[in-house]
Amino acid sequence: MMDRRLEGKVAIITGAGAGIGEAIAHKFAKEGASVVVNGLADDPIEDVAQKIKHYGGKAIAYAGDVSQEFHAQNCVQTAINAYGKLDILINNAGVFLATAETQDYPVEVFDETIRMNLRSAFLMTKYALPHLQKTRGNIVSAGSEAGFNGLAYNTPYGGTKGWMHSFMKGVAVEQAKHGVRANCVCPGAIDTAWTHKEEGPMNTEMEKTLIQATPMGRRGTPEEMANVYAFIASDEASYVTGALWLADGGVTVAKGAVGKETPFWLRSEPKGELRLDHSREGLENKETQSRM
Ligand SMILES: NC(=O)c1ccc[n+]([C@@H]2O[C@H](COP(=O)([O-])OP(=O)(O)OC[C@H]3O[C@@H](n4cnc5c(N)ncnc54)[C@H](O)[C@@H]3O)[C@@H](O)[C@H]2O)c1
Repeated sequence: MMDRRLEGKVAIITGAGAGIGEAIAHKFAKEGASVVVNGLADDPIEDVAQKIKHYGGKAIAYAGDVSQEFHAQNCVQTAINAYGKLDILINNAGVFLATAETQDYPVEVFDETIRMNLRSAFLMTKYALPHLQKTRGNIVSAGSEAGFNGLAYNTPYGGTKGWMHSFMKGVAVEQAKHGVRANCVCPGAIDTAWTHKEEGPMNTEMEKTLIQATPMGRRGTPEEMANVYAFIASDEASYVTGALWLADGGVTVAKGAVGKETPFWLRSEPKGELRLDHSREGLENKETQSRM
């Protein structure tokens, strides 16, 4: 049998009831990690944890909004109580709640986006670091191509990802002396609720454009992202810190509607191995709005 890359490690994955986080939880468990599956109270985190246990993985669910200090502290403490240590923090939780031109973007959605995307990552990092310093662990946070390029029609969201990139770079420099690494995975359009007009606030035009702007002419899958997270979080990436690791199908380096040139037979998503039942449920329990 091949060595498992995260054997013996303990990992917290925030926002792991749906989408990319669900895939990271499964992938990490399959690579030998004991995982804390965090999500909001009505996210299917118990189901994800149960499925992991079903095939012999180690998982525990922690329900709570980690943008609240109490829950961030408790989430970290849950890992320590259950497994005795913490090696990996995955700051994956985030929201994509509205599409509108900036002059029409609701102020309360801006505030909520900042809270859910930034405050959660800051608090989790703050409370995880003392434990990560003991294990010489690492943090991988959800950046985005939108953090490099900005995002028209959800400009505050793109800004939160630019913040995440800088936050992780600062943490990487500051924490190297403790043996702690910090990085971002920066996805392009991924096949979750966010990039489907039926499940989120994107309209037909936005959905079409984001795929045409991607040279690979398709969305990435949650599992393809989980594979990148697994590598960066593993000891194989021991010299990788302060990195913004693009996994975006080429969208950042593209100009124009290049995806249209890619033949359909090259556009099909890989089937993958993980059984993901919640990949497009991330927005089910949230109020979203389109003002376009
Ligand atoms: N989907 C994409 O195209 C894409 C692209 C680039 C980056 N990302 C990033 O990847 C991450 C996951 O995106 P996704 O598409 O899988 O989203 P998703 O909505 O499918 O899953 C995110 C999960 O996090 C949970 N969550 C949100 N805020 C939380 C909080 N404060 N505490 C606990 N749980 C919380 C949500 O309820 C949801 O279940 C996000 O940070 C996002 O910015 C996604």
